[in-house]
Amino acid sequence: MKQLTLSFLIVLSFLSRPLQADEGMWIPLFLEKYNYADMQAKGLRLSAEEIFSLNQTSLKDAIVIFGRGCTGELISGEGLLLTNHHCGYGQIQSHSSLENDYLTNGFWAMSRDEELVNPGLTATFLVSMKDVTSEVLEGVTPEMTEKERQDKVKENSDKLIEEATNDTHYSAVVKPFFYGNQYFLFVNEVFKDVRLVGAPPSAIGKFGGDTDNWMWPRHTGDFSLFRIYAAPDGTPAEYAPENVPYRPKTFLPISLKGVEKGDFTMVYGYPGTTQEYLPSYAVEQIMYQSNPHKIAIREAILDVMKESMDADPAVRIQYASKSASVANAWKKWIGENRGLRKLDAIEKKKAYETEWLNWLVADRDRRENYSRILLDFQKNYEKLAPYQLAMDYFMEAGYSMELVKSARIIAPLLNLKEDVSDEEVAQTVERIRASYQNFFKDYHQPTDKKIFRKVFLDIYSENVPAEFLPSIFTTINDDFKGDFDAYTDELYQESILVNEEDLYRFLDKFKASKKKRLAKDMGMEVYQSLMELYLTKIRNVQGTIRQSNDSIMRHYMALQLAMEPDRIFYPDANFTLRITYGQVDDYVPRDGVFYEHVTTLDGIMQKDNPDIYDYRVPQALKDLYESKDFGPYAVNGTVPVCFTASNHTTGGNSGSPVLNADGHLIGINFDRNWEGTMSDIMYDPDQCRNISLDMRYLLFIVDKFAGAGHLLDEMTIIR
Ligand code: ARG
Ligand code: GLU
Repeated sequence: MKQLTLSFLIVLSFLSRPLQADEGMWIPLFLEKYNYADMQAKGLRLSAEEIFSLNQTSLKDAIVIFGRGCTGELISGEGLLLTNHHCGYGQIQSHSSLENDYLTNGFWAMSRDEELVNPGLTATFLVSMKDVTSEVLEGVTPEMTEKERQDKVKENSDKLIEEATNDTHYSAVVKPFFYGNQYFLFVNEVFKDVRLVGAPPSAIGKFGGDTDNWMWPRHTGDFSLFRIYAAPDGTPAEYAPENVPYRPKTFLPISLKGVEKGDFTMVYGYPGTTQEYLPSYAVEQIMYQSNPHKIAIREAILDVMKESMDADPAVRIQYASKSASVANAWKKWIGENRGLRKLDAIEKKKAYETEWLNWLVADRDRRENYSRILLDFQKNYEKLAPYQLAMDYFMEAGYSMELVKSARIIAPLLNLKEDVSDEEVAQTVERIRASYQNFFKDYHQPTDKKIFRKVFLDIYSENVPAEFLPSIFTTINDDFKGDFDAYTDELYQESILVNEEDLYRFLDKFKASKKKRLAKDMGMEVYQSLMELYLTKIRNVQGTIRQSNDSIMRHYMALQLAMEPDRIFYPDANFTLRITYGQVDDYVPRDGVFYEHVTTLDGIMQKDNPDIYDYRVPQALKDLYESKDFGPYAVNGTVPVCFTASNHTTGGNSGSPVLNADGHLIGINFDRNWEGTMSDIMYDPDQCRNISLDMRYLLFIVDKFAGAGHLLDEMTIIR
């Protein structure tokens, strides 16, 4: 009997890819219903209520959105928050200078009053969530156009948000699931005073740098510590000296017991975006068009940044965060394409589509209403292709240029009305001045100028048809005889956007009547030509095709669900709280190679290489290693550093707690493996692994390396 089912399953899995072992990012609200039995079978010892509950305190109350794109968790009753080093990187960097280089040297607050304030940084707790599908779709009819539907959905959602937050200090959002087949309302509490408590030096927190990023075996101590502060009454407040450490409803106990292969693990956090249910045409466009172009653009940017950073330590600090984020997606796209190719993703999608279509046409109703879906997708993606290309270049080679970022900061001045009051002008100018302080702190004109010359001028114009180029190229042809060098020299000489002194002088003397002068700035001309391109050539057509795709996708998704009524589907990630579970596991990346599931301090010493920036091990760590002063964190004479498991994670899961069967914190998630980066589009249980930092290495660094052992006193540590 068992044999039979198994072979039946194998056939089916080839055809329709039913849910594989550890694939899935699950909605915690439905844990009991869909996942709990399976989780228990895999070793979980908690009740579903202990993991997620709307009525009583549960693990969910220890988890936050950190900033805008990461996860964090509470690890003490006094608001101590743990996340990744790369999630706190922007903050650590913002407090760093050549004199106080926290990026290089690390930072540890030895008392509460040394903790550093981070304007704008937030920690967001989920208060409640609720299925609001019927409320959101009230008044939506099949006859509506996609635009009418979207408007109605927005109107209903706004009403729900208003009702949910009225008379409270909460905020709320409504998010679509399964491409608009289901909607959930999330009510959040946002804390606004989140201070930096500690961060290891980059040689630990970013050990391996971009060389090891997205790779296993890994030895990165990717963590940083923050503390949430609240008003004396415990409610969220902007920074104020009288704020007190926040007392959370609960926090996570830390286990030193460690991991064995096969142990149950669960990652609880905020995965950002996945696209598991797209048609083959969409995946083809990503693989063969978007990814290759975006990869090439970023490669050029990175080359210039690297050259400048290698030449000047001050620029290394200024561009550390910027180059890390450019490199991160660049490398991921390369891995993603490789993984999709290796998986034969397009062929698999097409095989699935054939099967789906056969199922669809077997029923008359479905046949009559929906048999054009795949054809419509095909047509739409063909139509979309040139616009997608234009959009990718607009974003990657245009809108993200630093000169253009500067224009975006000052652009509000262009929108001031002629009769604006002096006071409003002064306020606007003040806001702009504050943004510019951040901008210029990390701005290096020669680097930006080279990037602009190579990426905006050469690469943009070589790869995009003339009709999708910003009109500034016509100006360059007419006024500079197409001489890119001459144009760049004059632009960077003349534009106030990239010349700090000129810019502040302009702001000091600004009057609304001088708007015209600003509009004529050479840098503003670049910006305006880009915006004009987007507004007149890209936005409408692209928007229309996307709207049509949204509508088709909603039906396609519903019909995928309908085809396999017994399969439990998970919705694509949308930066809402999810649980993914699996087990600690090794893997075979390629023929003849086996990757162990853990790494240790020994491996850090093996990678040590003073000649390679990413592999310079701090002397103090080498000393600890020599003296074997590992405290209670040692296993077999070394310290475990990272481990891999089969949890299905994505960007946004960074900083997420990795919990054992008892709900104790054993690690923090920070990456995926190179062989598995295609899991945002197609998951492969053989190859996809998440990478976590072992809590024992983390505590070893805090305690033994940094001498910040006082922080351990407020944690609950299970030995
Ligand atoms: N790949 C990880 C993530 O997607 C870590 C990124 C930060 N590290 C880096 N070396 N750039 O966020
Ligand atoms: N480093 C990623 C993040 O910032 C997590 C890695 C992934 O994409 O899985 O969320």
